[in-house]
Amino acid sequence: MRTRPLKVALLGCGVVGSEVARIMTTHADDLTARIGAPVELAGVAVRRPDRVREGIAPELVTTDATALVKRGDIDVVVEVIGGIEPARALITTAFEHGASVVSANKALLAQDGAALHAAAEQHGRDLYYEAAVAGAIPLIRPLRESLAGDKINRVMGIVNGTTNFILDKMDSTGAGYQEALDEATALGYAEADPTADVEGFDAAAKAAILAGIAFHTRVRLDDVHREGMTEVTAADFASAKEMGCTIKLLAICERADDGASVTARVHPAMIPLSHPLASVRGAYNAVFVESDAAGQLMFYGPGAGGSPTASAVLGDLVAVCRNRIGGATGPGESAYAALPVSPMGDVVTRYHISLDVADKPGVLAQVATVFAEHGVSIDTVRQSGKDGEASLVVVTHRASDAALTGTVEALRKLDTVRGVASIMRVEGE
Ligand SMILES: NC(=O)c1ccc[n+]([C@@H]2O[C@H](COP(=O)([O-])OP(=O)(O)OC[C@H]3O[C@@H](n4cnc5c(N)ncnc54)[C@H](OP(=O)(O)O)[C@@H]3O)[C@@H](O)[C@H]2O)c1
Repeated sequence: MRTRPLKVALLGCGVVGSEVARIMTTHADDLTARIGAPVELAGVAVRRPDRVREGIAPELVTTDATALVKRGDIDVVVEVIGGIEPARALITTAFEHGASVVSANKALLAQDGAALHAAAEQHGRDLYYEAAVAGAIPLIRPLRESLAGDKINRVMGIVNGTTNFILDKMDSTGAGYQEALDEATALGYAEADPTADVEGFDAAAKAAILAGIAFHTRVRLDDVHREGMTEVTAADFASAKEMGCTIKLLAICERADDGASVTARVHPAMIPLSHPLASVRGAYNAVFVESDAAGQLMFYGPGAGGSPTASAVLGDLVAVCRNRIGGATGPGESAYAALPVSPMGDVVTRYHISLDVADKPGVLAQVATVFAEHGVSIDTVRQSGKDGEASLVVVTHRASDAALTGTVEALRKLDTVRGVASIMRVEGE
């Protein structure tokens, strides 16, 4: 065993960083045995130096993160500040000064992963980020390493705990969106400003990262089609129940049937109760992977929180330290396939459409004609109504999003269609 410790600079000591520091201290002997050398916390960069940081020697704390990563004796930089800057500049500077990097920063990796990987490669260093997607759940490494010999066709997951908590509440109690959000906020599952979660930005960043790794193709945040879940209603859940489904906010990354392109999207969708993702309750995350040889795989666990996320960070830290001692680097970016990312219009799936229509003869035929004219085949229709008003629920067979959009536009123009109450994709069948 080598005795010179590996020096770690911790950038950020908040929810995740404080747990990283705690585990590094409490598990120090085990980490030393697993890595083959001691790891030493060499410095901790924060914004507010005067805050009490339990278990961290005050002399390690600095507000000058740049000076810390430039020291030259740092082996690994752990970036748990979050956001784009200064995290991006600090990571780049870390590579320039010889350190490898472990990060939990989904936003930065989804936006600038390619450039960061290039910087790591240029300097012969590692960039690991298991914690950036689905917290504690081992996902990046299984996709990048365990399944490297397989061909992944689909990655579909619940990758945001806040939205899953809200939707699960709506499902189990019949509550509306606002009521469920208020409860999530009161219990600390939702931030004071929940936009990043409920509008799907957080899940979209994760979808970009997952699609890039699964399909060996660069996928950026801008390539991901994103719809939030704020419009999901109690009525949608009632409809879903009638179909034997529930509603989840899903991140879906797919290879097209002909294998020539990929898509990545985030939106609420109905999934059958028999699908493994339907049983993911509360703030838990899960990702369902389909590949040629392995078939169907499910990864499940806590997708956030200080300690679970720190578990993933520590796993990366051990891997990076081992590489360092062995004089090697782990897998870098794999984007050789360079498949085009198709627009949402090319996505093919099923749809559940709820229409408010006039309750009179011939309406059903009119509606069915519009679907047929746009090449969208109907699977089932359910009609109910009284006093001249009726509702029509149409579930389609698989059709392209573009065809469905055209259908809905034409339906809105029919005199007999008073409104389109909801449109929801149906996945996982
Ligand atoms: N929280 C989770 O459950 C979770 C799960 C998965 C991934 N992540 C990711 O982990 C990262 C960190 O999240 P978090 O929840 O731990 O955030 P957080 O609690 O807000 O902590 C951020 C830390 O960064 C420090 N910081 C902010 N700006 C800085 C600057 N300019 N220079 C130096 N330090 C600075 C803050 O210092 P002060 O302490 O002085 O304010 C704080 O210690 C993010 O990328 C996030 O997306 C978090």
